[in-house]
Amino acid sequence: MPTQRALVIPAERAPFKLVNDWPIPKPGPKDVLVKLASIALNPADWRIQSGGAPGFVKEYPFICGLDGAGIVEEVGSEVTNLVKGDKVLFEGAFDNTRATFQEYTLSPAAFTAKIPDNISFDQAASVPLCLATVVTGIWAQEEGARSAKLTPPWEEGGKVKYAGDVAFIIGGSSSVGQYAIQCARLQGYAAVIATSSLKHAEFLKSLGATHVIDRHLLPAEIQAQVRTFAAGKPITYVYDAIGDRDEQRLSYELLEDGSAFVTVQPIFHEYIEDLVTEKKPVTRVYGAFDVPGNFKLGLEVYSRLPGWLATGVIVPNRVEVVPGGFTGIPVGLERLHQDEVSGVKLVVRPAETP
Ligand SMILES: NC(=O)c1ccc[n+]([C@@H]2O[C@H](COP(=O)([O-])OP(=O)(O)OC[C@H]3O[C@@H](n4cnc5c(N)ncnc54)[C@H](OP(=O)(O)O)[C@@H]3O)[C@@H](O)[C@H]2O)c1
Repeated sequence: MPTQRALVIPAERAPFKLVNDWPIPKPGPKDVLVKLASIALNPADWRIQSGGAPGFVKEYPFICGLDGAGIVEEVGSEVTNLVKGDKVLFEGAFDNTRATFQEYTLSPAAFTAKIPDNISFDQAASVPLCLATVVTGIWAQEEGARSAKLTPPWEEGGKVKYAGDVAFIIGGSSSVGQYAIQCARLQGYAAVIATSSLKHAEFLKSLGATHVIDRHLLPAEIQAQVRTFAAGKPITYVYDAIGDRDEQRLSYELLEDGSAFVTVQPIFHEYIEDLVTEKKPVTRVYGAFDVPGNFKLGLEVYSRLPGWLATGVIVPNRVEVVPGGFTGIPVGLERLHQDEVSGVKLVVRPAETP
C-alpha cells in the first residue's frame, strides 16, 4: 500500500508526531484524492490536540486539519466535475481519510472547487471552513439546518430585503469574521458594523464593513457606538465570530424582535441564557456542508465559489506562511492558542517539511 507523511496525534492529548508510513487513502466513486499544496490552521486543531473537543475524535492515531488546497491526483469512477491535475480547494473533516494534516487526502468532489488563476494555494486554503461557518449559519434552508435562514443573495429579494437593516459582526478581523462581513455586504445591509482592533479598520472596510469599532472598548461604549452608527435603523442580524461573553450580551440586547443572532460558539446559553427569547432565536453554527440541513447549500456555494473568487465577490483571508511544513503546524497552533494571531490566516506548505 502506498504511504505518505502525516502529522498525527498518537493518543489523547499526546503531542503531534510526524510519521512517514501513513497509508494514502483510496478515493471512493464520488471522491477525489488531492495532493496538498497548502493547509490552513484553525482553533479546532489545537483544541482537539489538547483534549478540548473529545466528541470529534473517533480513533487514535487521529489526524487534524480542516482546510486544504492542492492538486487533484486521482478521481473516483463517478466524478465528472474534476480531472487529475486540477487546482482545488476543499474543507477537511474529522476523519483520518479526509483530514488535511497529511500529504494526500480525500474530498467529496461535490464539495471541492477549482481555484481560479488569481488565487494562490495559500489564499485558497483560507477559504473553506471559515466561509462554510458563515454561510451555513445564515443561508442553509433545509430541515435540520442550524441556520438563521436569511434569504441568500442569489435568491429573489436576497440582495434588497435587508437594505433598511443593520448587521453587526463581532470579531470582524477573525478569519470567520472577514467572511461574515463579506456575506453581509452581499446582502445589501444599510450598515455592516464590526468590532476589531482598529489597526484592521481599513482592511475590513475594503471587505464591506461600513464602520469598525475598537473591540477593546467597554461593552457599554461598544453598544453606544453601534447605536450611533446604526443611525436609527433596526439592528436585525448579529454574527458572533468569537464567543466573548460581554460582546454576546451587548449585541443580543441591541437586536430587535424578529432578528437573527448567529454564533460560532456552542456555549452561548451560559452567557446569554437569561436574555434569550423566542422572538430573537440563537443559531449555533456547524460549519460543514455534509451534515443534515446543509447539503443543498453546499452544492450551491461550491458551484459559485470559483466565480466568486475570480471576480472578488469573496476575497480570501490575508495569509501568513508558517515555515517548516508539517513541523510548523504545532508552532502555528500554539500561536493561535495564545491569541497571538491577528487578522491573518496561518498556513503551511507540506512540501516545505524538512
Ligand atoms: N462552529 C463552527 O463550526 C466553527 C467553525 C470555525 C471556527 N469556529 C470558531 O470561531 C472562532 C473564530 O475562529 P477563527 O479561525 O476566525 O479565529 P482567528 O482568526 O484565529 O481569531 C483571531 C482574531 O480574533 C479576534 N478577536 C479575539 N478576541 C476578540 C474579541 N473579544 N472581540 C473581537 N475580536 C476578537 C482578533 O482580533 P484583533 O486581532 O483585531 O484584536 C483576531 O484577529 C473560534 O473560536 C473557532 O473555534 C467555529
